[in-house]
Amino acid sequence: MELLRVDPRQPDPGVILRAADVIRGGGLVAFPTETVYGLGAHALDPAAVERIYEAKGRPSYNPIIVHVATAEQAHDVVLEWNETAERLARAFWPGPMTLVLPKRANVPDNVTAGLTTVAVRVPAHPVAHALLAAAGVPIAAPSANKSMQLSPTMAAHVVASLGDAVDIVLDGGPTWVGIESTVVDVSGDRPVVLRPGTISLEQIEAVAGATVTLGGVAPADAPRPSPGMLDRHYAPRARLVLADSTDVGIRVELERTHGHRAGAVVISAPIEPSPTTVTMPNDPAEYAARLYATLHALDDAGCDVVVVERVPESGLWLGVRDRLERAAR
Ligand code: TXA
Ligand code: MG
Repeated sequence: MELLRVDPRQPDPGVILRAADVIRGGGLVAFPTETVYGLGAHALDPAAVERIYEAKGRPSYNPIIVHVATAEQAHDVVLEWNETAERLARAFWPGPMTLVLPKRANVPDNVTAGLTTVAVRVPAHPVAHALLAAAGVPIAAPSANKSMQLSPTMAAHVVASLGDAVDIVLDGGPTWVGIESTVVDVSGDRPVVLRPGTISLEQIEAVAGATVTLGGVAPADAPRPSPGMLDRHYAPRARLVLADSTDVGIRVELERTHGHRAGAVVISAPIEPSPTTVTMPNDPAEYAARLYATLHALDDAGCDVVVVERVPESGLWLGVRDRLERAAR
């Protein structure tokens, strides 16, 4: 594995060209997007895509998002584009939104886990964009972590999780959105949000001009429309417990009397300061940007359990709440 540092705003074209060559040659390149780091492979090369599944230990039924440089290039992998897709793409691309649409035959089955749809996204990060442009091929990229673990928001997280399974890691510093893209299935009559992110249902409705539903929240044993809805996902090593603001302090004390090393993540809950107590911003976007790095750090500090103050119910907090609830299962 080679770790190559790049300027997140103006990545060195020489470094990008090398990484693009690795992609075209069937190798794996981890790269920053605005949401989380992705583990990229040539999306139209099934053997390259297979390496992603092996590196992550990812179950073969979990499909992978295809990243493209521009909305026009999305047409190379999407069979039928529609008005809703057009509106959402215009409003939110490049950016943290993934659209699910009927796939073209050139997209290998292992990218879509045998589904007839493909998930596609135009990332906003200059490094991701430069890599896509230089490679000249669509890049399949799940989050660059072992399956079921927390997504990486820094290159060090990628190295710790995947190590030599990756050919090149492009270190473009911390990502700024911090949680994964909003996945919207626009293949049907009405848009369905399969995985909430930092773009709210209300924002999507306003642009799509249609009612948007939240889908994919299925019971543990049901087949998943989107395996991002797998129960335990996006989870730290430590057990994660959600508590109301008034209960956080008591819960932490209780865990400590049981001999556990307890961390706490709060917004306004009263709690004794400690090296494993983190106060987060009371703003959903800022909270999201710091969430995974905070949980990674508490894992690294050796916490057995992390007590997290419940976040507000409002629409803009939906993505953060979703990740916390998943991690707590
Ligand atoms: O922000 C992100 O989306 C990051 C960056 C790297 O782009 N990627 C990411 O990928 O989070 P991953 O593999 O960790 O999550 C992809 C999600 C999963 O929930 C997967 O089930 C869903 O997208 N997905 C992929 N293809 C799909 C399809 N054809 N239909 C429904 N869901 C799909
Ligand atoms: Mg993931």
